[in-house]
Amino acid sequence: MDFSRIRQALISLPNGASEPIVSSIFITELLKIIGFDVTETIPGFSTGNGGNAVDYAVRKNYDSDIFVQTKLNPYLLVEVKGRNINLHPKAAQYKSTVNQLKHYLLAPNCKTTQWGLIANGDYIQLFRKHNKVIYPATPCTEITTDNLDKVISLIKQKIDNPPKALTVAVYNNKGGVGKTTTTLNLAAMLTMLGKRTLIIDFDPNQQDLTNSLGQKPKEDSLYSWLVNDKNQQIPKGLINSFKVSPKSGSVWQFDIIASDAKLQNLPEENLRQLINYARLRQALESLKWQYDYILIDSPPNWRFYSQSAIYAADVVLIPTKHNSIYSLENAATVIERFIPEIQNVRRDGGPIPLPIFYNGESITAPAKLTAEEAIDKIIERAKSNKPNPIDLTPYFFPKTTSTRKDLHIFGIPSYAHIAGAAFSNIPAVYKNKIACEHYLGLVREYFLQ
Ligand SMILES: Nc1ncnc2c1ncn2[C@@H]1O[C@H](COP(=O)(O)OP(=O)(O)O)[C@@H](O)[C@H]1O
Ligand SMILES: [Mg+2]
Repeated sequence: MDFSRIRQALISLPNGASEPIVSSIFITELLKIIGFDVTETIPGFSTGNGGNAVDYAVRKNYDSDIFVQTKLNPYLLVEVKGRNINLHPKAAQYKSTVNQLKHYLLAPNCKTTQWGLIANGDYIQLFRKHNKVIYPATPCTEITTDNLDKVISLIKQKIDNPPKALTVAVYNNKGGVGKTTTTLNLAAMLTMLGKRTLIIDFDPNQQDLTNSLGQKPKEDSLYSWLVNDKNQQIPKGLINSFKVSPKSGSVWQFDIIASDAKLQNLPEENLRQLINYARLRQALESLKWQYDYILIDSPPNWRFYSQSAIYAADVVLIPTKHNSIYSLENAATVIERFIPEIQNVRRDGGPIPLPIFYNGESITAPAKLTAEEAIDKIIERAKSNKPNPIDLTPYFFPKTTSTRKDLHIFGIPSYAHIAGAAFSNIPAVYKNKIACEHYLGLVREYFLQ
Protein backbone atom coordinates (compact mmCIF):
# COMPACT_ATOMS: atom_id res chain seq x y z
CA MET A 1 0.00 0.00 0.00
CA ASP A 2 1.24 3.46 -0.83
CA PHE A 3 0.49 5.75 2.06
CA SER A 4 2.09 8.90 0.63
CA ARG A 5 -1.17 10.51 -0.60
CA ILE A 6 -3.16 9.88 2.57
CA ARG A 7 -0.25 11.02 4.70
CA GLN A 8 -0.05 14.20 2.65
CA ALA A 9 -3.84 14.63 3.04
CA LEU A 10 -3.56 14.39 6.81
CA ILE A 11 -0.68 16.88 6.91
CA SER A 12 -2.55 19.40 4.79
CA LEU A 13 -5.82 19.07 6.75
CA PRO A 14 -6.31 22.41 8.57
CA ASN A 15 -6.79 22.47 12.35
CA GLY A 16 -10.47 22.81 13.01
CA ALA A 17 -11.32 21.71 9.43
CA SER A 18 -15.08 21.57 8.87
CA GLU A 19 -16.83 18.40 7.77
CA PRO A 20 -16.81 19.17 4.00
CA ILE A 21 -13.06 19.87 4.18
CA VAL A 22 -12.35 16.65 6.11
CA SER A 23 -14.43 14.78 3.52
CA SER A 24 -12.85 16.22 0.42
CA ILE A 25 -9.24 16.19 1.59
CA PHE A 26 -9.01 13.17 3.88
CA ILE A 27 -11.97 10.79 3.56
CA THR A 28 -11.81 10.52 -0.25
CA GLU A 29 -8.18 9.41 0.05
CA LEU A 30 -9.08 7.06 2.88
CA LEU A 31 -11.76 5.32 0.82
CA LYS A 32 -9.34 4.92 -2.09
CA ILE A 33 -6.59 3.40 0.00
CA ILE A 34 -8.91 0.91 1.68
CA GLY A 35 -9.95 -0.24 -1.78
CA PHE A 36 -13.03 1.58 -3.12
CA ASP A 37 -13.01 3.65 -6.31
CA VAL A 38 -15.47 6.37 -7.37
CA THR A 39 -17.91 3.91 -8.98
CA GLU A 40 -18.00 2.08 -5.64
CA THR A 41 -18.63 5.15 -3.48
CA ILE A 42 -21.92 7.00 -2.91
CA PRO A 43 -21.79 10.26 -0.97
CA GLY A 44 -24.97 11.12 0.97
CA PHE A 45 -26.38 7.59 0.79
CA SER A 46 -30.03 7.38 1.74
CA THR A 47 -30.34 4.72 4.46
CA GLY A 48 -34.10 4.47 4.25
CA ASN A 49 -34.65 5.73 7.79
CA GLY A 50 -36.72 8.82 7.19
CA GLY A 51 -34.75 11.48 5.35
CA ASN A 52 -31.45 10.41 6.88
CA ALA A 53 -28.40 10.08 4.70
CA VAL A 54 -25.06 8.74 5.87
CA ASP A 55 -22.02 10.63 4.54
CA TYR A 56 -20.66 7.75 2.47
CA ALA A 57 -21.66 4.23 1.54
CA VAL A 58 -19.22 1.98 -0.32
CA ARG A 59 -19.24 -1.48 -1.83
CA LYS A 60 -17.16 -3.39 -4.40
CA ASN A 61 -18.81 -3.76 -7.80
CA TYR A 62 -19.83 -7.26 -8.88
CA ASP A 63 -19.71 -7.77 -12.67
CA SER A 64 -22.53 -5.62 -13.98
CA ASP A 65 -23.78 -4.54 -10.53
CA ILE A 66 -22.13 -1.15 -10.32
CA PHE A 67 -22.76 0.30 -6.85
CA VAL A 68 -23.23 3.93 -7.94
CA GLN A 69 -25.88 2.71 -10.41
CA THR A 70 -27.80 0.05 -8.47
CA LYS A 71 -27.26 1.74 -5.07
CA LEU A 72 -28.03 -1.60 -3.42
CA ASN A 73 -26.42 -3.49 -0.52
CA PRO A 74 -23.78 -1.12 0.85
CA TYR A 75 -20.87 -2.91 2.54
CA LEU A 76 -19.41 -0.10 4.64
CA LEU A 77 -20.94 3.17 5.88
CA VAL A 78 -18.82 6.18 6.83
CA GLU A 79 -20.02 8.99 9.08
CA VAL A 80 -17.69 11.96 8.77
CA LYS A 81 -17.35 14.80 11.25
CA GLY A 82 -15.36 18.01 11.15
CA ARG A 83 -12.39 18.54 13.43
CA ASN A 84 -14.60 20.93 15.40
CA ILE A 85 -16.52 17.85 16.63
CA ASN A 86 -14.70 16.09 19.45
CA LEU A 87 -14.50 12.34 18.81
CA HIS A 88 -12.46 11.56 21.91
CA PRO A 89 -14.17 8.45 23.35
CA LYS A 90 -15.12 10.28 26.55
CA ALA A 91 -16.75 13.22 24.72
CA ALA A 92 -20.53 13.58 24.43
CA GLN A 93 -20.14 14.24 20.70
CA TYR A 94 -18.39 10.88 20.32
CA LYS A 95 -21.37 9.09 21.89
CA SER A 96 -23.88 10.89 19.71
CA THR A 97 -21.82 10.17 16.59
CA VAL A 98 -21.66 6.46 17.43
CA ASN A 99 -25.42 6.43 18.00
CA GLN A 100 -25.95 8.15 14.68
CA LEU A 101 -23.81 5.53 12.92
CA LYS A 102 -25.69 2.69 14.66
CA HIS A 103 -28.97 4.21 13.56
CA TYR A 104 -27.81 4.21 9.93
CA LEU A 105 -26.39 0.70 10.13
CA LEU A 106 -29.75 -0.63 11.31
CA ALA A 107 -31.73 1.23 8.65
CA PRO A 108 -33.73 -0.66 5.98
CA ASN A 109 -31.35 -0.03 3.06
CA CYS A 110 -28.35 -1.27 5.04
CA LYS A 111 -29.38 -4.83 5.92
CA THR A 112 -26.31 -6.31 4.22
CA THR A 113 -23.87 -3.76 5.61
CA GLN A 114 -20.96 -5.34 7.49
CA TRP A 115 -18.99 -2.33 8.71
CA GLY A 116 -19.33 1.25 9.92
CA LEU A 117 -16.64 3.88 10.30
CA ILE A 118 -16.54 7.23 12.08
CA ALA A 119 -13.73 9.69 11.36
CA ASN A 120 -12.95 13.39 11.66
CA GLY A 121 -9.28 13.67 10.77
CA ASP A 122 -8.28 13.48 14.45
CA TYR A 123 -9.90 10.18 15.40
CA ILE A 124 -11.05 7.09 13.57
CA GLN A 125 -12.96 4.00 14.69
CA LEU A 126 -14.26 0.94 12.87
CA PHE A 127 -17.39 -0.94 13.96
CA ARG A 128 -18.55 -4.39 12.93
CA LYS A 129 -22.19 -5.06 12.18
CA HIS A 130 -23.21 -8.70 12.59
CA ASN A 131 -26.85 -8.67 11.61
CA LYS A 132 -28.43 -6.66 14.45
CA VAL A 133 -25.37 -6.54 16.69
CA ILE A 134 -22.94 -3.64 16.32
CA TYR A 135 -19.68 -3.67 18.23
CA PRO A 136 -16.27 -1.92 18.01
CA ALA A 137 -13.77 -3.61 15.70
CA THR A 138 -10.99 -1.19 16.65
CA PRO A 139 -10.59 1.25 19.53
CA CYS A 140 -11.36 4.88 18.80
CA THR A 141 -7.82 5.86 17.78
CA GLU A 142 -6.18 9.26 17.57
CA ILE A 143 -4.48 9.41 14.17
CA THR A 144 -1.08 10.98 13.62
CA THR A 145 1.39 10.79 10.76
CA ASP A 146 3.28 8.26 12.90
CA ASN A 147 0.50 5.70 13.30
CA LEU A 148 -1.55 6.41 10.17
CA ASP A 149 -0.10 3.53 8.11
CA LYS A 150 -0.67 1.05 10.90
CA VAL A 151 -4.21 2.20 11.68
CA ILE A 152 -5.29 2.12 8.04
CA SER A 153 -3.66 -1.27 7.38
CA LEU A 154 -5.54 -2.71 10.32
CA ILE A 155 -8.87 -1.32 9.10
CA LYS A 156 -8.25 -2.62 5.59
CA GLN A 157 -7.20 -6.03 6.81
CA LYS A 158 -10.40 -6.30 8.89
CA ILE A 159 -12.85 -5.22 6.22
CA ASP A 160 -11.20 -7.39 3.54
CA ASN A 161 -11.73 -10.63 5.44
CA PRO A 162 -14.50 -10.45 8.05
CA PRO A 163 -14.97 -13.50 10.24
CA LYS A 164 -18.42 -15.00 9.83
CA ALA A 165 -19.08 -15.69 13.48
CA LEU A 166 -20.32 -13.53 16.28
CA THR A 167 -18.79 -14.82 19.51
CA VAL A 168 -21.09 -14.45 22.51
CA ALA A 169 -20.18 -15.16 26.14
CA VAL A 170 -23.22 -15.88 28.30
CA TYR A 171 -22.23 -14.60 31.70
CA ASN A 172 -23.34 -13.30 35.07
CA ASN A 173 -21.22 -14.04 38.12
CA LYS A 174 -24.37 -15.09 39.94
CA GLY A 175 -25.29 -18.78 39.67
CA GLY A 176 -28.68 -20.17 38.72
CA VAL A 177 -29.74 -17.21 36.57
CA GLY A 178 -30.00 -19.27 33.38
CA LYS A 179 -26.61 -18.99 31.69
CA THR A 180 -26.51 -22.63 30.65
CA THR A 181 -30.20 -22.78 29.74
CA THR A 182 -29.81 -19.63 27.61
CA THR A 183 -26.70 -20.92 25.83
CA LEU A 184 -28.43 -24.17 24.97
CA ASN A 185 -31.78 -22.84 23.81
CA LEU A 186 -30.30 -19.86 22.01
CA ALA A 187 -28.11 -22.27 20.02
CA ALA A 188 -31.09 -24.50 19.30
CA MET A 189 -33.14 -21.52 18.10
CA LEU A 190 -30.39 -20.05 15.92
CA THR A 191 -29.97 -23.52 14.38
CA MET A 192 -33.69 -23.67 13.57
CA LEU A 193 -33.26 -20.33 11.82
CA GLY A 194 -30.52 -21.81 9.63
CA LYS A 195 -27.50 -20.39 11.46
CA ARG A 196 -24.39 -22.55 11.89
CA THR A 197 -23.80 -22.56 15.62
CA LEU A 198 -21.12 -23.86 17.98
CA ILE A 199 -21.50 -23.95 21.76
CA ILE A 200 -18.67 -24.35 24.24
CA ASP A 201 -19.05 -25.71 27.76
CA PHE A 202 -16.58 -23.48 29.59
CA ASP A 203 -17.86 -24.33 33.03
CA PRO A 204 -15.94 -27.60 33.50
CA ASN A 205 -16.57 -27.80 37.23
CA GLN A 206 -20.31 -28.12 36.66
CA GLN A 207 -20.43 -29.45 33.08
CA ASP A 208 -24.14 -28.64 32.95
CA LEU A 209 -24.17 -27.78 29.27
CA THR A 210 -22.47 -31.05 28.34
CA ASN A 211 -24.77 -33.05 30.62
CA SER A 212 -27.91 -31.32 29.43
CA LEU A 213 -27.30 -32.71 25.93
CA GLY A 214 -26.66 -36.18 27.30
CA GLN A 215 -23.01 -36.01 26.29
CA LYS A 216 -20.05 -37.28 28.27
CA PRO A 217 -17.25 -34.93 29.28
CA LYS A 218 -14.21 -35.62 27.15
CA GLU A 219 -10.87 -36.87 28.39
CA ASP A 220 -8.14 -34.62 27.18
CA SER A 221 -9.43 -32.96 23.99
CA LEU A 222 -10.37 -29.44 25.14
CA TYR A 223 -7.54 -29.64 27.66
CA SER A 224 -4.81 -30.39 25.13
CA TRP A 225 -6.24 -27.89 22.63
CA LEU A 226 -5.90 -25.14 25.23
CA VAL A 227 -2.61 -26.25 26.75
CA ASN A 228 -0.73 -26.69 23.45
CA ASP A 229 -0.96 -23.11 22.34
CA LYS A 230 1.57 -23.57 19.54
CA ASN A 231 -0.62 -26.21 17.95
CA GLN A 232 -3.27 -24.62 15.76
CA GLN A 233 -4.81 -27.98 14.74
CA ILE A 234 -8.27 -28.79 16.03
CA PRO A 235 -7.86 -32.11 17.92
CA LYS A 236 -9.91 -35.00 16.64
CA GLY A 237 -13.07 -35.42 18.63
CA LEU A 238 -12.97 -31.91 20.09
CA ILE A 239 -16.12 -30.87 18.25
CA ASN A 240 -19.22 -33.07 18.37
CA SER A 241 -22.54 -32.59 16.67
CA PHE A 242 -25.91 -32.58 18.35
CA LYS A 243 -28.63 -33.63 15.94
CA VAL A 244 -32.39 -33.66 16.19
CA SER A 245 -34.74 -34.85 13.45
CA PRO A 246 -38.10 -33.17 13.77
CA LYS A 247 -41.09 -34.94 12.23
CA SER A 248 -40.90 -32.94 9.03
CA GLY A 249 -37.81 -34.92 8.06
CA SER A 250 -35.35 -32.06 8.22
CA VAL A 251 -32.40 -32.20 10.60
CA TRP A 252 -31.35 -29.56 13.08
CA GLN A 253 -27.72 -29.79 13.95
CA PHE A 254 -25.41 -27.66 16.01
CA ASP A 255 -21.91 -28.33 17.27
CA ILE A 256 -20.60 -28.56 20.80
CA ILE A 257 -17.21 -28.48 22.44
CA ALA A 258 -17.96 -30.51 25.55
CA SER A 259 -16.23 -29.93 28.83
CA ASP A 260 -13.13 -31.90 29.64
CA ALA A 261 -12.67 -34.08 32.72
CA LYS A 262 -9.02 -33.03 32.85
CA LEU A 263 -10.10 -29.43 33.42
CA GLN A 264 -12.37 -30.31 36.30
CA ASN A 265 -11.28 -29.21 39.76
CA LEU A 266 -7.89 -27.98 38.64
CA PRO A 267 -6.69 -25.44 41.20
CA GLU A 268 -6.79 -21.89 39.85
CA GLU A 269 -3.02 -21.44 40.22
CA ASN A 270 -2.16 -24.54 38.22
CA LEU A 271 -4.68 -23.57 35.60
CA ARG A 272 -3.14 -20.13 35.16
CA GLN A 273 0.33 -21.62 34.89
CA LEU A 274 -0.84 -24.07 32.25
CA ILE A 275 -3.08 -21.81 30.17
CA ASN A 276 -3.22 -18.08 29.54
CA TYR A 277 -6.75 -16.74 29.66
CA ALA A 278 -6.23 -15.22 26.19
CA ARG A 279 -5.77 -18.72 24.78
CA LEU A 280 -9.45 -19.54 24.19
CA ARG A 281 -9.80 -16.48 21.94
CA GLN A 282 -6.69 -17.41 19.98
CA ALA A 283 -7.80 -21.05 19.67
CA LEU A 284 -11.24 -20.07 18.36
CA GLU A 285 -9.79 -17.81 15.65
CA SER A 286 -9.81 -20.41 12.86
CA LEU A 287 -13.38 -21.51 13.69
CA LYS A 288 -14.77 -18.00 13.17
CA TRP A 289 -15.02 -18.53 9.42
CA GLN A 290 -17.04 -21.75 9.83
CA TYR A 291 -19.85 -20.68 12.14
CA ASP A 292 -22.39 -17.88 12.28
CA TYR A 293 -22.47 -17.98 16.08
CA ILE A 294 -20.09 -19.24 18.75
CA LEU A 295 -21.72 -19.26 22.20
CA ILE A 296 -19.66 -19.77 25.35
CA ASP A 297 -21.25 -20.90 28.62
CA SER A 298 -19.33 -19.72 31.68
CA PRO A 299 -19.22 -20.31 35.43
CA PRO A 300 -20.66 -18.01 38.13
CA ASN A 301 -17.44 -16.43 39.35
CA TRP A 302 -14.73 -14.11 38.08
CA ARG A 303 -11.91 -16.53 37.68
CA PHE A 304 -10.01 -18.24 34.87
CA TYR A 305 -12.90 -19.70 32.85
CA SER A 306 -15.13 -16.63 32.96
CA GLN A 307 -12.21 -14.34 32.18
CA SER A 308 -11.32 -16.57 29.22
CA ALA A 309 -14.92 -16.52 27.97
CA ILE A 310 -15.21 -12.73 28.23
CA TYR A 311 -11.78 -12.27 26.64
CA ALA A 312 -12.83 -14.47 23.72
CA ALA A 313 -16.17 -12.72 23.17
CA ASP A 314 -17.33 -9.97 20.85
CA VAL A 315 -20.38 -9.37 23.04
CA VAL A 316 -21.58 -10.54 26.45
CA LEU A 317 -25.16 -11.63 27.05
CA ILE A 318 -26.17 -11.23 30.71
CA PRO A 319 -29.13 -13.23 32.05
CA THR A 320 -30.49 -11.63 35.21
CA LYS A 321 -33.30 -12.13 37.71
CA HIS A 322 -35.57 -9.21 38.54
CA ASN A 323 -36.25 -10.45 42.05
CA SER A 324 -32.65 -10.90 43.07
CA ILE A 325 -30.84 -7.74 44.03
CA TYR A 326 -27.64 -9.78 43.82
CA SER A 327 -28.17 -10.77 40.24
CA LEU A 328 -28.97 -7.13 39.33
CA GLU A 329 -25.90 -5.90 41.24
CA ASN A 330 -23.78 -8.60 39.66
CA ALA A 331 -24.98 -7.64 36.20
CA ALA A 332 -23.91 -4.06 36.96
CA THR A 333 -20.52 -5.28 38.20
CA VAL A 334 -20.03 -7.26 35.00
CA ILE A 335 -20.67 -4.10 32.96
CA GLU A 336 -18.82 -1.63 35.20
CA ARG A 337 -15.81 -3.68 36.24
CA PHE A 338 -15.26 -7.06 34.65
CA ILE A 339 -15.82 -6.19 31.01
CA PRO A 340 -13.74 -2.96 31.19
CA GLU A 341 -10.98 -4.99 32.89
CA ILE A 342 -10.80 -7.20 29.81
CA GLN A 343 -11.22 -4.25 27.42
CA ASN A 344 -8.14 -2.69 29.00
CA VAL A 345 -6.11 -5.78 28.21
CA ARG A 346 -7.48 -6.43 24.72
CA ARG A 347 -7.25 -2.82 23.55
CA ASP A 348 -9.44 -3.38 20.50
CA GLY A 349 -12.60 -1.87 21.95
CA GLY A 350 -14.15 -5.20 22.90
CA PRO A 351 -15.97 -7.02 24.22
CA ILE A 352 -19.13 -5.05 24.88
CA PRO A 353 -22.13 -5.96 27.03
CA LEU A 354 -25.54 -6.49 25.48
CA PRO A 355 -28.45 -5.18 27.56
CA ILE A 356 -29.48 -7.43 30.45
CA PHE A 357 -32.57 -9.59 30.24
CA TYR A 358 -34.74 -11.23 32.89
CA ASN A 359 -34.77 -14.99 32.87
CA GLY A 360 -36.91 -17.56 34.55
CA GLU A 361 -39.31 -15.56 36.70
CA SER A 362 -42.86 -14.43 36.28
CA ILE A 363 -43.05 -10.74 37.08
CA THR A 364 -45.96 -9.11 38.89
CA ALA A 365 -46.49 -5.36 38.60
CA PRO A 366 -45.29 -4.59 42.18
CA ALA A 367 -42.21 -6.81 41.68
CA LYS A 368 -41.43 -4.96 38.47
CA LEU A 369 -41.64 -1.66 40.30
CA THR A 370 -39.30 -2.89 43.05
CA ALA A 371 -36.81 -4.02 40.42
CA GLU A 372 -37.02 -0.65 38.66
CA GLU A 373 -36.31 1.15 41.92
CA ALA A 374 -33.34 -1.12 42.60
CA ILE A 375 -32.01 -0.51 39.09
CA ASP A 376 -32.43 3.27 39.46
CA LYS A 377 -30.25 3.15 42.57
CA ILE A 378 -27.64 1.07 40.74
CA ILE A 379 -27.65 3.52 37.81
CA GLU A 380 -27.33 6.55 40.11
CA ARG A 381 -24.42 4.99 41.97
CA ALA A 382 -22.61 4.08 38.74
CA LYS A 383 -23.01 7.64 37.41
CA SER A 384 -21.06 9.03 40.34
CA ASN A 385 -18.58 6.19 40.47
CA LYS A 386 -15.01 7.49 40.74
CA PRO A 387 -12.73 7.49 38.83
CA ASN A 388 -14.81 5.91 36.09
CA PRO A 389 -18.42 7.11 36.08
CA ILE A 390 -20.56 5.11 33.66
CA ASP A 391 -24.12 5.46 32.44
CA LEU A 392 -25.66 2.02 32.79
CA THR A 393 -29.05 3.10 31.39
CA PRO A 394 -28.47 1.62 27.91
CA TYR A 395 -27.66 -1.75 29.48
CA PHE A 396 -30.66 -1.86 31.82
CA PHE A 397 -33.22 0.15 29.85
CA PRO A 398 -31.99 0.01 26.24
CA LYS A 399 -35.15 1.56 24.83
CA THR A 400 -34.81 4.72 26.91
CA THR A 401 -33.55 7.64 24.79
CA SER A 402 -32.49 11.16 25.74
CA THR A 403 -36.05 12.32 25.07
CA ARG A 404 -38.14 9.33 26.15
CA LYS A 405 -38.07 7.06 29.21
CA ASP A 406 -38.90 3.43 28.43
CA LEU A 407 -38.44 0.90 31.23
CA HIS A 408 -39.07 -2.21 29.17
CA ILE A 409 -36.64 -5.07 29.80
CA PHE A 410 -36.80 -8.22 27.68
CA GLY A 411 -37.76 -11.31 29.66
CA ILE A 412 -38.13 -15.05 29.35
CA PRO A 413 -40.66 -16.14 31.97
CA SER A 414 -40.40 -19.13 34.24
CA TYR A 415 -41.66 -21.97 32.15
CA ALA A 416 -41.79 -25.59 33.28
CA HIS A 417 -40.90 -26.99 29.87
CA ILE A 418 -37.69 -24.99 29.82
CA ALA A 419 -36.56 -26.52 33.09
CA GLY A 420 -37.96 -29.99 32.30
CA ALA A 421 -36.21 -30.32 28.96
CA ALA A 422 -32.86 -30.63 30.73
CA PHE A 423 -33.91 -34.11 31.89
CA SER A 424 -34.74 -35.34 28.42
CA ASN A 425 -31.45 -34.15 26.89
CA ILE A 426 -33.18 -32.11 24.22
CA PRO A 427 -33.28 -28.29 24.23
CA ALA A 428 -36.74 -27.05 25.20
CA VAL A 429 -37.17 -25.13 21.95
CA TYR A 430 -37.12 -28.44 20.03
CA LYS A 431 -39.82 -29.95 22.20
CA ASN A 432 -42.24 -27.19 22.93
CA LYS A 433 -43.88 -24.49 20.89
CA ILE A 434 -44.12 -21.91 23.67
CA ALA A 435 -40.47 -22.37 24.66
CA CYS A 436 -39.69 -21.94 20.98
CA GLU A 437 -41.56 -18.63 20.86
CA HIS A 438 -39.75 -17.32 23.95
CA TYR A 439 -36.32 -17.98 22.45
CA LEU A 440 -37.36 -16.67 19.05
CA GLY A 441 -38.19 -13.48 20.95
CA LEU A 442 -34.70 -13.47 22.48
CA VAL A 443 -33.07 -13.94 19.07
CA ARG A 444 -35.14 -11.12 17.55
CA GLU A 445 -34.51 -8.79 20.48
CA TYR A 446 -30.73 -9.20 20.44
CA PHE A 447 -29.38 -10.82 17.31
CA LEU A 448 -31.48 -10.87 14.17
CA GLN A 449 -33.19 -7.98 12.44
N1 LIG B 1 -36.92 -19.68 31.78
C1 LIG B 1 -36.83 -20.70 32.65
N2 LIG B 1 -37.96 -21.31 33.12
C2 LIG B 1 -37.86 -22.31 34.00
N3 LIG B 1 -36.71 -22.78 34.48
C3 LIG B 1 -35.57 -22.22 34.08
C4 LIG B 1 -35.55 -21.16 33.14
N4 LIG B 1 -34.27 -20.81 32.93
C5 LIG B 1 -33.50 -21.62 33.69
N5 LIG B 1 -34.27 -22.47 34.40
C6 LIG B 1 -33.85 -23.48 35.39
O1 LIG B 1 -33.13 -22.80 36.40
C7 LIG B 1 -32.03 -23.58 36.85
C8 LIG B 1 -30.76 -22.76 36.71
O2 LIG B 1 -30.53 -22.49 35.32
P1 LIG B 1 -29.09 -22.60 34.68
O3 LIG B 1 -29.23 -22.34 33.24
O4 LIG B 1 -28.43 -23.88 35.07
O5 LIG B 1 -28.36 -21.38 35.40
P2 LIG B 1 -26.80 -21.01 35.47
O6 LIG B 1 -26.13 -21.66 34.31
O7 LIG B 1 -26.78 -19.52 35.42
O8 LIG B 1 -26.28 -21.49 36.77
C9 LIG B 1 -32.03 -24.82 36.01
O9 LIG B 1 -32.66 -25.84 36.74
C10 LIG B 1 -32.85 -24.47 34.79
O10 LIG B 1 -33.51 -25.60 34.24
MG1 LIG C 1 -24.48 -22.98 34.30
